[in-house]
Amino acid sequence: MRHIIAIRDLSREEIDGILDDAQGIQARSYDPSALEGKLLGLLFFEPSTRTRMSFAAAMARLGGNFLSVDSVEASSMAKGETLADTIRVVSRYVDAIVLRHPKEGAARLASEFAHVPVINAGDGAGQHPSQTLLDLFTIRQSMPLGGIHVGLLGDLRYGRTAHSLAHALSLYNVTIHTITPKGLELPAGLATELRDAGTEVIEHDDLASAIPGLDVLYVTRIQRERFPDSASYFKVASSYQVTPELLTGVRDHFIVLHPLPRLNEIDPRVDRLPCARYFEQAANGIPVRMAMLLRVMT
Ligand code: NCD
Repeated sequence: MRHIIAIRDLSREEIDGILDDAQGIQARSYDPSALEGKLLGLLFFEPSTRTRMSFAAAMARLGGNFLSVDSVEASSMAKGETLADTIRVVSRYVDAIVLRHPKEGAARLASEFAHVPVINAGDGAGQHPSQTLLDLFTIRQSMPLGGIHVGLLGDLRYGRTAHSLAHALSLYNVTIHTITPKGLELPAGLATELRDAGTEVIEHDDLASAIPGLDVLYVTRIQRERFPDSASYFKVASSYQVTPELLTGVRDHFIVLHPLPRLNEIDPRVDRLPCARYFEQAANGIPVRMAMLLRVMT
C-alpha cells in the first residue's frame, strides 16, 4: 500500500485488514523495532493535537523517528514556496509523509510529487482517512459494523471527518442518519454518491426523535475556521447539544463518538455515561496509526 489519501481509495478488505492489525497491536502483539531506522515527516499546516501527537507516538512506539513542521509560519511556505516543491524536498529526507493542509485536495496533489508514501491527515473540508479508521475501530469494539444505524450530527458540510466516515460506512451496509443545522448538510454530491452506492441516507430535523433509532451517534464540531465570515458561523453556533436527558431512551449498545476537539456540542455530564466513548476513541488513534504506518512503510 502506498498513499492513503481518501477512504474511497481503500477496499473494505483493506480497511478490515488495517483494523485487524490495529486490534493485534492493541493486544500488544507487535514488534517494537519494526520501524527502526525509519523517519516520518509530519507536515502540519493547520492546528492539531491528537492527529499529530498520535502519529508521532505511533512512530516512536514502533522504534522509528519523526521530524515535524507545525505551522505555515515556521516553514518556507511562509516565503511563498509551493506545496509541490516542499513535498519534493521533504520526501528526500524521510520515508513517509503525514500531511495536514487547509486546502481540499492538497494531500492528493502532494502524493503526485512525493517519492515516498503520503498519508492525508486532513485536507481542508475534504477527507480525514486516519480518523475514520480509528472511528470504525472504536465502533467495532462495541458492535459489528454491518447493518447498523449511525447518526452524523453537526457540521456535515465542512466536517472532513464526517465525509470520510460516511464513505467508509457505505461499504458496510450502514444506514446513515444526518442531523444538521440549516446550511450545514452533507454536500449534495456526497449524498448522491452514497445513495448511488446503495446506502440509505435519512435526514432528520430533530435530534431527540432521531436518537432512539441509532446505534452510534457521531457528534462533530462546527468548523468555524471554514466559514466565509463570523456572522454566518454565529447563526448556527450552539444550535445543538447532546445532554444526558436526550440519551435516556437509547439502545443497549448505543455509543456516542466525537473526533474531538469538542466545544459545547456534548454536555460534559455525558462524559460519565457508559455510552460516552470519545476519549477511548482518541486513544485508539495510537494502535490504528501504528497499523497504518506499518502498511505504508514496510
Ligand atoms: C478533526 C479535524 O481536524 O478534522 N480533529 C481531529 O483530527 N480529531 C475534527 C475537528 O477539528 O473538529
